[in-house]
Amino acid sequence: MSDWPRVLAIESSCDETAAAVVRGRQILSNVIASQVETHALYGGVVPEIASRAHVEAMVPVVRRALDEAGLSIRDIDCIGVTYGPGLVGALLCGVSYAKALAYEANKPLVAVHHIEGHICANFLSAPDLQPPLLALVVSGGHSHLVLVEDYGKHRVLGKTRDDAAGEAFDKAARVLSLPYPGGPSIDRLAEQGDPHALPLPKARTEGLNYSFSGLKTALLQSVAREEKAGHILKKEDIAASFRRAVVDQLLEKAELALRETGCSSFCLAGGVACNSLLRRRAQELCARLNARFFAPPPILCTDNAAMIGFAASYRFLRGERAGLDLNAVPSMPLPG
Ligand code: KG4
Ligand code: ZN
Repeated sequence: MSDWPRVLAIESSCDETAAAVVRGRQILSNVIASQVETHALYGGVVPEIASRAHVEAMVPVVRRALDEAGLSIRDIDCIGVTYGPGLVGALLCGVSYAKALAYEANKPLVAVHHIEGHICANFLSAPDLQPPLLALVVSGGHSHLVLVEDYGKHRVLGKTRDDAAGEAFDKAARVLSLPYPGGPSIDRLAEQGDPHALPLPKARTEGLNYSFSGLKTALLQSVAREEKAGHILKKEDIAASFRRAVVDQLLEKAELALRETGCSSFCLAGGVACNSLLRRRAQELCARLNARFFAPPPILCTDNAAMIGFAASYRFLRGERAGLDLNAVPSMPLPG
């Protein structure tokens, strides 16, 4: 489609300073400055440090995104920015910079919901994907089952009642003395472990909702029980059992949602969508249900600005504009 706008997008909701230029589903540049090594020293994201790092990285990251796209700000049709949910100080860095740039360069501004952005990573990586679709959005802050009825039109069918799936991985990794972020560490170890070595209870949640906060305690208790009985478990087995418990829960509800909605496309999104077992098992599930399976490449699963750019594109084409009074919103529902 040749009438897609050239969008410069900015994302700074957590610990990645990101800027990208997209034109429809085409990614012209996708620059990400990760702060993960800084936060790893503390075992998790420190909000004040994140904000400071965003301030330092923002200008060079945006400049590089334009350079790599071979464009100048004059060639850009619209600026898209994540305005929530996320860490308020971190969000404010992106929102303030996007507003300043929009004002100075006289460009329209479009505000994007972070979770909508995660879902949009699928449109970037699958050229023929169209709504309606069912998306499982699993990240460090969110675990949502979303029916995407049309571009930007969402119905949340279920979500976590407490911790997010990524948060559960991060907490379990701390229990196992594995480095932050825990998801990739557990995933790597789990590939060598026995997923049935450690029995873990199933959380009972109503409808299509999730609950992960009990899993960490269950993990601690279960390991202690096994050790008391003289069974010394390998870390690989613990990691594999934990990963299986999370994936079981995620896909059990996803299967229900696919059956209830009759959706023929299922998409993974968010950082936890990098998980190798989740990807394998989701693919099997879709094969069994005769649904098409989509998962973006890992670089588009974790936080990036290209995904924000695609969401901004269709919102721009519908005439949506944010004012210079746009503010960061740390918590808000997905737009319906
Ligand atoms: O989407 P994301 O980059 O940031 C948020 O919006 O939260 O997701 C980060 C989360 C972290 O909790 C991290 O542990 C998890 O995604 N994650 C994974 C994997 N890679 C990243 N979880 C499980 N398996 C992975 N391979
Ligand atoms: Zn995210």
